Amino acid sequence: MKVLGIETSCDETAVAVVEDGRSVLANLISSQVDLHARYGGVVPELASRAHVQAINPLMAEALDRAGCRFADIDGVAVTVGPGLAGALLVGVAAAKAVSLATGAELIGVNHLEGHIYANFLEHGPPEPPYVCLVVSGGHTLLVHMPEEHRYEVLGQTVDDAAGEAFDKIARFMGLGFPGGPALDRLARQGDPEAIAFPRAMADSGDYDFSLSGLKTAVLRYVKGELAAGRRPDPADLAASFQEAIVDVQVSKTVAAALERGVSTVLLGGGVVANTRLRERMEKAGAEAGLRVLFPAIELCTDNAAMIACAGASRLARGERSSLDVAIDPGLELAP
Ligand code: KG4
Ligand code: ZN
Repeated sequence: MKVLGIETSCDETAVAVVEDGRSVLANLISSQVDLHARYGGVVPELASRAHVQAINPLMAEALDRAGCRFADIDGVAVTVGPGLAGALLVGVAAAKAVSLATGAELIGVNHLEGHIYANFLEHGPPEPPYVCLVVSGGHTLLVHMPEEHRYEVLGQTVDDAAGEAFDKIARFMGLGFPGGPALDRLARQGDPEAIAFPRAMADSGDYDFSLSGLKTAVLRYVKGELAAGRRPDPADLAASFQEAIVDVQVSKTVAAALERGVSTVLLGGGVVANTRLRERMEKAGAEAGLRVLFPAIELCTDNAAMIACAGASRLARGERSSLDVAIDPGLELAP
């Protein structure tokens, strides 16, 4: 079964072709990074327009790379939320058009479920239950999955998302936008223990996160150092900030898995591309006897192969969306 995946929830137009829910035959991304970089963030109206321009040629190229035609597609999986309304509409309209014209089954997919299902490309799903940490530009949440496609949100950020915190500090440090990857690279040359930033909510006894206090602590530290005539070392600053985020994420994820008696941990979302998070999570998982899975780096950030994978799994269970399926910018993971 070949599924065409379409993802346009934010600033990347992405199209993929995935066979049998696992084999990635094509996975293309038309990035709008340069378009939004000079504004220091994603401009929704510009994103929608760029999706409109990119989507048709990208679908044609993805089919070409996969060595197939529209007529060979059995299903169309598309992100219906969460995301920017105008951006989501472009992908959903394209998916409906393909479904209507070819008779391929349509399935709407939750973007966050896509990030989790990126783990199942290539190898398929391990036996549930799972505990999942989803960390992206817009989300930070810990989820218990008793079985496939069922979600119990254990906790989430009460303020900024992890990727948002990375991007804000990176911008403050002049590392460009989105700055997560640049901050990650810089941090590799620094000492994660150089500066003791607060571990917000580390001992709160729940699975929520808070990141805005850390952001303020970094700004205050830099101002204090400059006022005292000292120049903070950028690599130490990046490494110490990153460590404060990673510390809390790792400890809460491991605690949730142990408390729930779950032995498989899945990581998903753009921030899972972070070298230190992968390294620390792997080590902590091994120490706690947990199996920790994370997607290949290029499948952590937004892509359409993950949407095709989640959609293929739903289609295989007999689920379908009708041609009037609507977008939902605030869509949550359903129990
Ligand atoms: O999942 P994603 O591609 O888009 C959303 O759904 O939001 O995540 C993008 C976020 C950005 O904030 C970006 O800075 C962050 O993921 N990110 C990273 C790294 N690579 C991407 N953050 C830290 N370290 C990285 N290596
Ligand atoms: Zn995402």
